[in-house]
Amino acid sequence: MESLEEIEREIKSCKRCELWKTKTNYVPGEGNPNAKIVFVGEAPGREEDKQGKPFVGNAGKYLTEVMQKFGLKREDVFITNVLKCRPPNNRDPKPEEIEACKPFLIKQLEAIKPDIIVCLGRHSAGVIFDLFGLKFPGISKVRGKTFEVEKWGKKVKIVAIYHPAAVLYRPQLKEDFERDFSKIVELLKEKPQIRKTTLLDFI
Ligand code: URA
Repeated sequence: MESLEEIEREIKSCKRCELWKTKTNYVPGEGNPNAKIVFVGEAPGREEDKQGKPFVGNAGKYLTEVMQKFGLKREDVFITNVLKCRPPNNRDPKPEEIEACKPFLIKQLEAIKPDIIVCLGRHSAGVIFDLFGLKFPGISKVRGKTFEVEKWGKKVKIVAIYHPAAVLYRPQLKEDFERDFSKIVELLKEKPQIRKTTLLDFI
């Protein structure tokens, strides 16, 4: 099992798709390696590309503000994106870029083994739901709902919420976004349910 530092080193020499040619910096993600909660966005934007850090532009400032409002510190969580390089002009990720970059996200999740995975926006939700074998009927259908999957010997919760950039663009989504966020913080207070092995598991 690779450590987050090893995964970061691998990301920083990646040429699996074309985005390395146009990026300024790779944006592997950052945060607590023992985080109980991992936030997954779509792809770095202009400011993230400049600084090599996730969610540090306007959407990131709003995300950080809402986290603080509900008592979460960025140092306590891990934040990353589906893509580790910025698509030119912030265009949507291409399917082949997602496929090329997905192994890094999988390795990061395997290294952290969080109790809760929060998908920020539809692109992230599409990828994460697919990874965990869940059907994804669209962000407005699933947002704010908790999906449980068996993983890493425990029940892992997956929640999709609106992308903070979408909320900045459409302030009418703010109320839903913040309500969903407060629910996530409540989930964090629940004890992780360790799945007990029963003899039936061996049949
Ligand atoms: N939007 C994202 O999806 N990720 C970032 O890191 C910044 C903006």
